Amino acid sequence: MAVESVQPNRGATVPDVVAVGKEQVSRADWLAKQGINPDDRIHLKKLSHMRYQHPDLDEIQTFMIDFGMQIAKRTDDEIWFKGYGSDQYVYYARKGPKQFLGGTFEAQSQEEFDRASRLPSAGPVQSMTNAPGGGSLVTITDPEGYLFNVVFGQELTNVEVSHPDKVVLNYTGEKSRRREFNRFEPGPAAVHKLGHFGYTTQKFDDLLHFYTTNFNIVPTDLLYIENEGQKIFVTMFAHLDLGDTLVDHHCIFFSANPASSHVHHCSFEVHDFDTQQLGHQWLTKKGYKLAWGVGRHILGSQIFDYWWDTTGNIVEHYADGDLVNQDTPIGYFKAGADSLAAWGPEVPAAFLE
Ligand SMILES: [Fe+2]
Repeated sequence: MAVESVQPNRGATVPDVVAVGKEQVSRADWLAKQGINPDDRIHLKKLSHMRYQHPDLDEIQTFMIDFGMQIAKRTDDEIWFKGYGSDQYVYYARKGPKQFLGGTFEAQSQEEFDRASRLPSAGPVQSMTNAPGGGSLVTITDPEGYLFNVVFGQELTNVEVSHPDKVVLNYTGEKSRRREFNRFEPGPAAVHKLGHFGYTTQKFDDLLHFYTTNFNIVPTDLLYIENEGQKIFVTMFAHLDLGDTLVDHHCIFFSANPASSHVHHCSFEVHDFDTQQLGHQWLTKKGYKLAWGVGRHILGSQIFDYWWDTTGNIVEHYADGDLVNQDTPIGYFKAGADSLAAWGPEVPAAFLE
């Protein structure tokens, strides 16, 4: 009997221009085609924190601590959670009926913040006197009705970031760890920083236009379906356009969903794969509900692990994500469930809703 040739699996680290594939366009060409002058946009510096409203603050506090956050400050009605990174806080929870209050970016300057506050759908500028680090916040409503926040003037934490130890790995052909053993302690996966967030939308084109013309947000990948030979874009992963500076593959995403508009998830960076698996085990033992994971995404490359919080929102741990800059081409990919993960469990139907 003939033995069928089966190729083993493999993985490789390849340049962005190769990994993106044949269907790609440069950032400059894409901006020109959209008629966007990069200088006209409001310049954001970084993603700062998420804002949510929860009916039970004690419950969400317990969950977030098991998820790997620490409390920066708590009052009767508000909690500011921090990671071990340089941010004052990465997640803000306010007491009240379940509500998504939006992602929050830091403006590059007072001038850029002021420009954001003058957008037609901007609310009043609020002084964050109670919040750790202070500063000002303005909330803008996007065309779908999602809240989008911009902050400026937060004090720096002045705490030197202490990253967890780097675990040395041995490979078949490269044994870097010699007479050293790897040992681990169980516990939550300590959160470093907020990495990205995203929503489903019934106004995909409007959101794409709103975010890419008003802010220095550019697509990293655009996913499409084909209809009579025409590409219809249905998902955008986007990053902050900071020139040469390397930034996360995506800090915001949105995906067309004709049935429902809702926040999909927000995602927090953890140190490495072992941290993530130990965190997964911790959340499992505590009886929380897994949404999807552990697996590795294709676009963005990150190892993912999605959990339902106690209010019914999805939050993600991620590790080992890709970095991009202005020289990374924008990729066009066919949308489909099989484009979500290189490996991992079957994607649950609830995740795609
Ligand atoms: Fe994610």
